[in-house]
Amino acid sequence: MSIRKKLIAGNWKMNKTSADAVALVQEIVAEAGKQNDVDIVVAPPFTSLESVGKALEGSVIKLSAQNVHPEPSGAYTGEISVGMLRSLFANYVIVGHSERRIYFSETDAFINQKVLASLKGQLKPILCIGETLAEREGNQTLKVVQTQLEAGLDGVSKDLATSVVIAYEPVWAIGTGKVATTEQAQEVHAFIRSLLVKLFGEAVAQKVRILYGGSMKPSNAPELLAQKDIDGGLIGGASLESRSFVELIKAAAAAK
Ligand code: PGA
Repeated sequence: MSIRKKLIAGNWKMNKTSADAVALVQEIVAEAGKQNDVDIVVAPPFTSLESVGKALEGSVIKLSAQNVHPEPSGAYTGEISVGMLRSLFANYVIVGHSERRIYFSETDAFINQKVLASLKGQLKPILCIGETLAEREGNQTLKVVQTQLEAGLDGVSKDLATSVVIAYEPVWAIGTGKVATTEQAQEVHAFIRSLLVKLFGEAVAQKVRILYGGSMKPSNAPELLAQKDIDGGLIGGASLESRSFVELIKAAAAAK
């Protein structure tokens, strides 16, 4: 049995009005709000954080934002700070998602600022890293993952490293229905763990959770979650419906 508790996180992306978000989370709370086998996180859009946070009260499910700005306040039209998220009782934030890297030109340096600001403000970053199809086909996967991981975690202390969650998300597997094979995923997860050992030492590296993301669904989750270094999932499409999300939580509980 792993020393790491499995974590299932739902990334709702730009989906659901506040009312729809509350309806979804109420179903998840009813099914899984009291269990303690798996850590559960939901990441609704900013506009639903407050209403979803209220619906989560009294449950074990934690709230995450999908993005954050590193500055505490100021003239950054459209942006949201760590303090604003903490005031809504968010515990986690997704940082460096490939959609933000690709569509919003986020660099490793900017992502690193977000990681550091989040940790300083007691918000746990879920740092996403992963290669594109061209990079995988060009045998660049491990190099890309190493660069993104080391740059993203630059300046993170050993003490705070256990508050970071890593999500390995091969870009070619996100929303495409193409899932990495268990061997492909485990190979990269083990490599990420070896990099964490170098950065923070064995004891810390063994505590950091590394999630897989990219077309994870109830049919492929048991095999992925059985891998030694796969500590949960960051789920997009299959988190938008309570039935599949709850099935993923059950799969993680069974794989612990
Ligand atoms: P997907 O998205 O499960 O829809 O592939 C995963 C993610 O982007 O986090």
